[in-house]
Amino acid sequence: MLKEVAAIRYVAPLHSGGSVPGVVEADDLGTYVVKFTGAAQGHKALVAEIVVGELARALGLRFPELVLVHFDPAVGGHEPHQEVQDLLRASAGLNLGMDYLPGAKDFTPEIARTFPVDPLEAGRVIWLDALTVNVDRTVHSSNLMVWPTLGIAPPRLWLIDHGAALVFHHRWDASSPEKAYDFRRHALGGHHPDTRAADAELAPRVTEDLLRAVLAEVPDAWLTDEPGFASPDAVREAYVGYLLARVRASAAWLPTDFPTREQLAAEDADRAERTQRGRPDWLKRVPDLHGKPAAEQDWSVHLG
Ligand SMILES: Nc1ncnc2c1ncn2[C@@H]1O[C@H](COP(=O)(O)OP(=O)(O)O)[C@@H](O)[C@H]1O
Ligand SMILES: [Mg+2]
Repeated sequence: MLKEVAAIRYVAPLHSGGSVPGVVEADDLGTYVVKFTGAAQGHKALVAEIVVGELARALGLRFPELVLVHFDPAVGGHEPHQEVQDLLRASAGLNLGMDYLPGAKDFTPEIARTFPVDPLEAGRVIWLDALTVNVDRTVHSSNLMVWPTLGIAPPRLWLIDHGAALVFHHRWDASSPEKAYDFRRHALGGHHPDTRAADAELAPRVTEDLLRAVLAEVPDAWLTDEPGFASPDAVREAYVGYLLARVRASAAWLPTDFPTREQLAAEDADRAERTQRGRPDWLKRVPDLHGKPAAEQDWSVHLG
């Protein structure tokens, strides 16, 4: 079972994350990155965090400890941002915490250029993401961290943030377990991932028993009120059934044939050039402020 702790200090919001997680100290003297139930992403993001994270851990991938965090909004009373106050007030009760990795660095494209990743490790991560249909581990939003960084031990890759995985739980009736996974822009696609070896190693380990054990970690409160299901256990069975069918169909979705970095760069340049051609002159002069390929920016949001 996941450990339960109580928050005693709200340290700071992590504004870089879309769900505004918060760094929180708890009564076990631990420091955690807390995902709040009041966030726009809702309960399903927290279910995905537990299911994919605990599956990752069971398969031997590095993933920080998860805990259930009892949160009293009074603990964050000093926080000046209205947006954060609203979030904390909407999150009284049970929330999800992940062990905070002090000094960890995001696995950015710059770091990725020089950080060595073993092809089998890259293959395992991509395999897990394909199994769990995780759409949020891309080059520019890797949700991978490098830790430790102080030179005490060699830095390693850690998985974080699986809130956008299990996309099938948004439409249970419309998603085939054989559905292909869009892996072209995966954060580790340029590291020669050996997904075939990962499939041979990991698929036999994702058993019905393992999936049941992982789903048992999800609190009932985050599995109630799911339309079409009579009870939290019925929802758990749906996750187990879907993932079991998907792992057995791995031949249908196994990502292979990754584009090289050069191919992706050429595609980016081509896309940017085509978008640029269709723009009015004044918009062509807007500078690239975010360091992302121009093709990934949607300047149309500024057009009102
Ligand atoms: N366990 C952790 N230890 C240290 N930093 C973290 C940890 N988890 C998240 N972060 C930092 O917070 C950012 C946002 O967290 P993330 O889980 O990706 O939230 P979101 O769902 O909002 O994207 C990450 O990009 C990373 O910089
Ligand atoms: Mg994230």
